[in-house]
Amino acid sequence: AEPLNIALAGLGTVGSGVVRLIETNAELIARRARRPIRIAAVSARDRSKDRGVDLSRYQWLDDPAEMALRPEIDVVVEMVGGSDGPALALARNAIAGGKSLVTANKAMIAHHGLELAAAAEQAGVALKFEAAVAGGIPVIKGLSEGAAANAIERVYGILNGTCNYILTTMEATGRDFADVLAEAQRLGYAEADPTFDVEGVDAAHKLAILAAIAFGARLRFDAVETTGITGVLAADIAQARALGYVIRLIGTAEIDRVGTAPGLFQRVRPHLVPCDHPLASVDGATNAVVAEGNFMGRLLFQGAGAGDGPTASAVVADLIDIARGEKGAAFSMPSHELEALEPAQSGHR
Ligand code: NDP
Ligand code: HSE
Repeated sequence: AEPLNIALAGLGTVGSGVVRLIETNAELIARRARRPIRIAAVSARDRSKDRGVDLSRYQWLDDPAEMALRPEIDVVVEMVGGSDGPALALARNAIAGGKSLVTANKAMIAHHGLELAAAAEQAGVALKFEAAVAGGIPVIKGLSEGAAANAIERVYGILNGTCNYILTTMEATGRDFADVLAEAQRLGYAEADPTFDVEGVDAAHKLAILAAIAFGARLRFDAVETTGITGVLAADIAQARALGYVIRLIGTAEIDRVGTAPGLFQRVRPHLVPCDHPLASVDGATNAVVAEGNFMGRLLFQGAGAGDGPTASAVVADLIDIARGEKGAAFSMPSHELEALEPAQSGHR
């Protein structure tokens, strides 16, 4: 069978992980995808950097923008990051050039997901972003496919691995915030700008995407009330523990039916979680998402929320879907049918 030719833009934590995964599991992936997945080109800023993978067998492009122009490329995989700039330009141009796009970039999807979805639908290509939410957990597929028959009223969970790593490591060891954040950066969990993690912005990006999938609603990142963990002190964690609680950064999205029309309530904030609640035992860079549906009841998705292997696993799962012929955007319905819900005020609650 004809290979699916892919181009990788960005070879950092996620991009190098994707190369490693495709090389290690090539045969298994080809069987499941019904055809080989072939890396046709790669690109990053610094060609000379040692990335722990042998890139000499792949075509190197100094400028990832070229990927959108090359006829032999079927799919562009964007792993550069940033809501705008080169990532967005590449995404737009790739889709306009008739290529499917796979991205791990939650910032870009939270800000421009609807525009990119409409463009992909019009161009007859796929737009997939499983890796953008909760790393290796297939929560987008889980909600848009597995839970597709349910009305979901509420989705919530731990959506940022870096914050959870910091909170749970501080809790277990009493170590200092800055020291644990530096470790999360070394382990490849944090964003290029880690203020996005610790200020709750990264979790807010993911929550907006999850809410759009769960409720069939238009993305409203601008409406997420966001508070991060920079104000959480070691003393707060100790005091919470003494009272039988742990502190976790939790994103919650709900359909609010208090007003005259349904509204979309979205909030990211540190919460006190009782020690016997399932979210209290979610440690390290693990994420967990709970979704409540009217027929399925309560689903709990849990697994590695950051890092090279788990994130690469989600990226390559999207590539397998595309190799099998999937098209369109990974929302639960065509983008023009997503409901425009007004933000609900937390004062209603
Ligand atoms: P890294 O910073 O490790 O990697 C970014 C890559 O992009 C690097 O290879 C870098 O090149 C390249 N790059 C940056 N700017 C440019 C540019 N202007 N032109 C060409 N290449 C460029 O980031 P991550 O791998 O951690 O993250 C990538 C994306 O995946 C982000 O959107 C992030 O939010 C998302 N993500 C990350 C996860 C994680 O656990 N790390 C999990 C889920 C999603 P060079 O190496 O030469 O500097
Ligand atoms: N910086 C993100 C996190 C990476 O810590 O969760 C995974 O999206």
